[in-house]
Amino acid sequence: MQRVLWITGAGSGMGRAVARSAAAAGWTVVLSGRRAEALRDSASGVEGPILQIPLDVRDGDAVRAARARIVDEFGRLDALVLAAGRNTPRRQWDDQDVETFHDVVAVNLNAVVTVIDAALPDLRASSGVAVVVSSYAGWAFHPGAGVAYSASKSALSSVVRTLNSGEAAHGVRATHLCPGDVATDFLDQRPNVPDAAARARMLTPEDIARTVQFVLDSPAHVRIDELVVSPVSQR
Ligand SMILES: NC(=O)c1ccc[n+]([C@@H]2O[C@H](COP(=O)([O-])OP(=O)(O)OC[C@H]3O[C@@H](n4cnc5c(N)ncnc54)[C@H](OP(=O)(O)O)[C@@H]3O)[C@@H](O)[C@H]2O)c1
Repeated sequence: MQRVLWITGAGSGMGRAVARSAAAAGWTVVLSGRRAEALRDSASGVEGPILQIPLDVRDGDAVRAARARIVDEFGRLDALVLAAGRNTPRRQWDDQDVETFHDVVAVNLNAVVTVIDAALPDLRASSGVAVVVSSYAGWAFHPGAGVAYSASKSALSSVVRTLNSGEAAHGVRATHLCPGDVATDFLDQRPNVPDAAARARMLTPEDIARTVQFVLDSPAHVRIDELVVSPVSQR
């Protein structure tokens, strides 16, 4: 039976690249994100079983319904790649607004916990793995990342550590994946949007997909607690 991977943020960037590489490696992939059309684009060219479930990860009922649908359809769920995330250009204490702070935390932190919580029975049953896409700013303090992004991404380290310590007895493993700059649409949320020359020096989504694939295909007795992957020019 093919192993089943559920990816959030699968309609673009790293999530899309992971979907394509995992499918090529023989995984059944489930794609989630808000934009159905983007999920269709991600699914194009992917061979093998694939399921698209558009949803907003902030909606706990939708997340739980998606998990039920995956298990109903495939009978198992072996891995999560949690790539849905957001930032905002107005991100420092002198220009942020608190509603946006709450929303960044809702997507980057609360929704990650919501999806893992929904899928935990399945991860226990499969000795599964969760790859939590955090950030360089979740690994080391990076002032440019902003208040909400820094706080939400650095909290993911604790999410992963508690999962690894609390769920090891069930064989569940989690990875705190901390990418440096990656040339994706995400950069458009920066106060100063990088130009093409700057993007050309960054990682590609495929660089991250290759790293994720290494985690996904590691044997069940191997836990990769944290990975920091950055372009050679990272500051
Ligand atoms: N690019 C970088 O330099 C960089 C570096 C370190 C870490 N990261 C992290 O890497 C992850 C992937 O980002 P990316 O660079 O691949 O950028 P991206 O292409 O903008 O991907 C972000 C994805 O998150 C999804 N998303 C946002 N809010 C959502 C919501 N409420 N519900 C469901 N899906 C939602 C978006 O899809 P919809 O809009 O369709 O929902 C989008 O596909 C993010 O968590 C980001 O924080 C990025």
